[in-house]
This record gives sequence, C-alpha cells and structure tokens, in this order.
Amino acid sequence: MNLQTIEPVLSFKNSQVPTGVVGWESPSNIALVKYWGKRDVQIPCNPSISFTLSKSVSRTKVSYRPAESGNYEIEFYLDGVRTEKFEEKIHTFFRTIRPLCPFIDQLRFRIDSSNTFPHSAGIASSASGMSALALCIADIERKHLDSLLSEKAFFQKASLLARLGSGSACRSVYGGLVIWGEVEGMPQTSNEYGVKLDEPIHEVFKSYKDSILIVDAAEKKVSSRAGHGLMKTNPFSAERFAQAGRNIQALIAAIRTGDLDMFIKLTELEALTLHAMMMTSDPYFLLMRPNTLSIIEKIFDFRQQTGLPVCFTLDAGPNVHLLYPQRHEQEIKSFIANDLAVHLHNGFYIDDQVGTGPNEI
Ligand code: DP6
Repeated sequence: MNLQTIEPVLSFKNSQVPTGVVGWESPSNIALVKYWGKRDVQIPCNPSISFTLSKSVSRTKVSYRPAESGNYEIEFYLDGVRTEKFEEKIHTFFRTIRPLCPFIDQLRFRIDSSNTFPHSAGIASSASGMSALALCIADIERKHLDSLLSEKAFFQKASLLARLGSGSACRSVYGGLVIWGEVEGMPQTSNEYGVKLDEPIHEVFKSYKDSILIVDAAEKKVSSRAGHGLMKTNPFSAERFAQAGRNIQALIAAIRTGDLDMFIKLTELEALTLHAMMMTSDPYFLLMRPNTLSIIEKIFDFRQQTGLPVCFTLDAGPNVHLLYPQRHEQEIKSFIANDLAVHLHNGFYIDDQVGTGPNEI
C-alpha cells in the first residue's frame, strides 16, 4: 500500500472539530546499516536497518482543540518550558505533512514532550521525538476521522509521517529490528515507511544490549541534514549506496542464523564507512574524537584477547554504541568500568538494549 496515493479523509466524524488529548512514548533507535544520503522528499538513497532501543525514549502528549484561525496553531513545551527552537521545526514538519493530514489545519495544538535521556548526553532526540509526535498525529486521525481503521494502517501512516519529520524516526515506530528503504527480494519494504523485520530472527538478537558510551556531550558541529546533503557531491556515493544494499542483505542473513562473526564485521564496517563518507565529503568534516578512536582500539584488543562477541557502531557523532549479547553483560560491564570509563564524559554511559517499540501513554 502506498499511503501517498490514498486520498486523505477530509472531515471529522459528525463534522465536529474535536477537543482531546493523546500521548505516546517512543524510543530512539540505532542503525546497523546506515542511512546517509537522501533525495526528493526524505527518500533514502539506500536501505537501512536498526535496533529499536528500550530506555532512551521521548514522551509526548498532544492536547488539541478547534483553532481560532483557519490554520493550525502550535505551542511546544520541552520539560514544561516553551521552546521556540523546536517550535520552528514542528512548523516545518506540519507544513510537510499537511497534504497527508489536512485536518490539522482546523486544530490548535499544545505539545508537551520530555526525554528520558539527559539533554546533555549529546544523543539526538529527533528519532524518538519525531516518532512520538507522528504517532500522536496519526492517533488523532484514528480517533476522529474514518480512516486508519486497521492497526497496520495506523502504524504505517505514523511511520510515513515520522519519516517526513526525520528519516531515522520512521524506524522507531516499531520494536525489534526495523528496515527502512527498498531491499531487493523483500517486496514488503518501502522507501516511504519502516517495516518490522519478519521472523526468523535468531534468539540472540531479541535481547541484544547497547551500552551507549558518551564521549562528548557537546552539540554536533555538522547536522545530519547537512551531512546527508553532502552525499550528493561525494565522489564515492554511488558505490556507497550499492554497498549498503549488499550489506543489508548479508546482515539480515546473519541476523536470521545468529552468525555473530558476520554481524560484527558488517556492523563495524558500516559504522566506519559512515564516518569515511563524512571525511571524504566536500567540505570534509570529522565527528569522531580522540576518545572515540581509543575506545574502538580497546574494543578490538578486548575482542581478540577474550573472544567475546562485542562490537561497536557509531551514529553521526563521537559517542560509541557497544553492542553485545545479553549473556555477556557482566563481563562487558567490567570492561567498561575498568578500561573504557576513562574515555567517557564524566564516566557516563546509558545501559540500553533492544526494545519492544512505542507505547500509548
Ligand atoms: C547516521 O534521520 O537524523 O543516524 O532525515 O535529516 O532527520 P534527517 O536525518 P537523520 O539521519 C540519521 C543518520 C544516522 C544513520 C541512521 O540512523 O540510519
């Protein structure tokens, strides 16, 4: 189903502009095969796959009532404080989704949001924040218009809306492993929204751990949006997009069979390729920090010495996501405390793991 070709339902039930409140809690996610490069309206240049996390979530409540003007009105509060910086982002988001949700024009919104992870951790909240907001908008539509009747249609539309806010957010609408972008041989996958990876998934990946090691909490110097844009002129981009298509096929095969060696190889290759793309853009830029590299080298040594299946991935920043099977939690926690803590911002890390996806609140 291509939701963009479906005519949106235009009028509220009984032609009554409603008043109400909806709320969703939605997690962040960490990509294994990376989305880096987009075209048209948030269409990815290659498919990506991620683990949805469990503890790193945004909680968003949307109160709505009839608008006084002929246009939607928005007030946005972060941790109870009106925040104009995000209000602008939400205006841009609403302008983008308006053709798909024309009913928003008739409403006045008060949006209250908070994150469980500290703002100072340098962790992007766009995936969790945009997916929580998209779920709220889809929920208003489900409650007050005669559309989104099935659960599948509801989550698919929420994922489509989330993508228009921030690409990676479309993967946070589901738990477990989620694919966004067309994968050869998987006709259910789409460039427009995320889909859950179907079974078989090896047991080891159903409780995988992600310890998010905070190397630097400062705001990034180059936004993801700008980084994606630079892929248009990166001389290696065509091969990179083709490589991601091959890596996702091989990674899905490893996830199905539980092949940890292959999982580690591909996950680390993807992380380093993402940063290689940054370093080979024009203008080039570097988001890893000396401590990022020190941690990576210690992970290589630790893996070689102990044989434990621990690996890393990176997002568009200096922090390191340490990925490992839950059964090795104790050994890895000691490794962090004894060897890695010295490289962390105030010794800080977030002890997260793969989660079950968003919840209504
Ligand atoms: C490196 O989803 O933050 O985390 O679509 O411009 O909002 P926009 O970008 P964003 O990019 C995420 C990039 C990444 C890789 C990934 O999550 O796949």
